[in-house]
Amino acid sequence: MNITQALPELPYDKNALNPIITEETFDYHYGKHHTAYVNNLAGLVKDTSLCEMSVEQIIQQAFTEKNASLFNNAAQHWNHSFFWHCLSPNGGKAPGGKIAELITRDFGSFKEFKTLFSNTASKLFGCGWAWLAQNEQGILEIIPMKEAHTPLTENKTPILTLDVWEHAYYIDYRNARPKFIENFWEIVNWDFANKNLK
Ligand code: FE2
Repeated sequence: MNITQALPELPYDKNALNPIITEETFDYHYGKHHTAYVNNLAGLVKDTSLCEMSVEQIIQQAFTEKNASLFNNAAQHWNHSFFWHCLSPNGGKAPGGKIAELITRDFGSFKEFKTLFSNTASKLFGCGWAWLAQNEQGILEIIPMKEAHTPLTENKTPILTLDVWEHAYYIDYRNARPKFIENFWEIVNWDFANKNLK
């Protein structure tokens, strides 16, 4: 997907995923947190050659050069832009199409995949992301990544992600991250996951 340096529009209304993710959470998570990453990034690239680069290029360069501030803001902007599309008011149920075939091939069954992904998201210590990504051989992998980290810097293709930073669920679920993860399955956008496959 094309992620520019600007704050993207949400692909649905802020109340479309209510009550799984409420409008108030979007007001903070999208309206404050994601917006802050975009504004921080804009400040860091202003009047530099970085403003001509794609967000993906900035992420790779900042990662290589160990520029933590630039990496964190660029990657968090990219991750959140991607994450909004992983959710849909018409999502949930079981996956179909190619993603369903690959999940069965690489994890045994959708049920086993769901358990493994949920456990990965639940056990991730502190803040971070549970990713489903495709490696260079096309094999699906579930990868827990701390803070702003993203499969992009491991030369893997992001397919689906779940934000498990506290800011993603604290308003709606308080400390109950497992409940948030359980409800995530009701709104997963499998069409988007299918489009992301290599
Ligand atoms: Fe977040």
